[in-house]
Amino acid sequence: MAATNPFDISGKAAIVTGGAMGIGFGIVRRFVESGANVLLTDLDEQAAKAALARLPRGPGRAEAMQADVSLEGADEAMVARCVERFGGVDVLVNNAGIYPAVPVLQMSPELLDQVYQVNIRGLVFASKAAGARMIQQGRGGSIINLSSIAAFHPSSVGLAAYGTSKAGVSQFTKSLALELAPHRIRVNAIAPGGVITEGANRQLQSMMTPEQEAVWRVEYVKAKIPLGRFGDPDDIARVAVFLASSASEYVTGSDVLVDGGMLLT
Ligand SMILES: NC(=O)c1ccc[n+]([C@@H]2O[C@H](COP(=O)([O-])OP(=O)(O)OC[C@H]3O[C@@H](n4cnc5c(N)ncnc54)[C@H](O)[C@@H]3O)[C@@H](O)[C@H]2O)c1
Repeated sequence: MAATNPFDISGKAAIVTGGAMGIGFGIVRRFVESGANVLLTDLDEQAAKAALARLPRGPGRAEAMQADVSLEGADEAMVARCVERFGGVDVLVNNAGIYPAVPVLQMSPELLDQVYQVNIRGLVFASKAAGARMIQQGRGGSIINLSSIAAFHPSSVGLAAYGTSKAGVSQFTKSLALELAPHRIRVNAIAPGGVITEGANRQLQSMMTPEQEAVWRVEYVKAKIPLGRFGDPDDIARVAVFLASSASEYVTGSDVLVDGGMLLT
């Protein structure tokens, strides 16, 4: 008899928010390659549809849906669609997040509200809707929240709104893990370091010229990343597969640092 693979997630039904690009897309791709059926949701409808076309053909299936996680009702709508298409919800990846860089002395109330609405409120209510469905199904589940090393360490000036929202994500992860443990629903966070994504590239380009950026990247890696390179979305996606699978069945309430050792420096 073949040994069971504890990392097998085939047949699971998953929702990935902000899945059209960056880390979210990396997770969708790994999940589909691993046989999971994925509802890829994103604020940007065109980008979500374009993302579907870039996915491998199975073994898992994928479907795109427009959803802004900061809006009332998006949570229930995503869960309902996943149930309708894939028969349930086994995994929720709360990946959608924004990271505008603004020093506190220039911060508007609107900016703070917007960061908290997407990074915290959206994640809390998506978790509530998916958690309720998982309890009803009675077969456990896994909720994976994208936090950041910014939850633990202010890596640069301008990320106070972002860093406090991610500290909230890490704390919320622990609170919800305690609440849902009796239902075998595990809740964990992944805290990435610097990962090369569309959003991260856009932010760097708004702050420096291409020449400055090239120098900055080399110096930054040398000074701050012991493993010698920036992260790739797939570095995060492989950890998401672990947290979605039974390989992590005794792991809940954890922050998994995936930062190439950045917090050691
Ligand atoms: N890139 C990094 O270095 C890094 C580091 C630590 C943590 N993170 C976290 O990882 C997650 C993904 O980051 P990324 O760099 O891949 O971002 P990205 O900007 O490259 O992609 C984010 C995706 O989320 C979507 N999105 C934005 N707001 C949304 C909303 N309100 N509702 C639904 N979708 C929305 C965007 O359209 C986009 O497709 C975020 O939570 C981010 O905070 C990223």
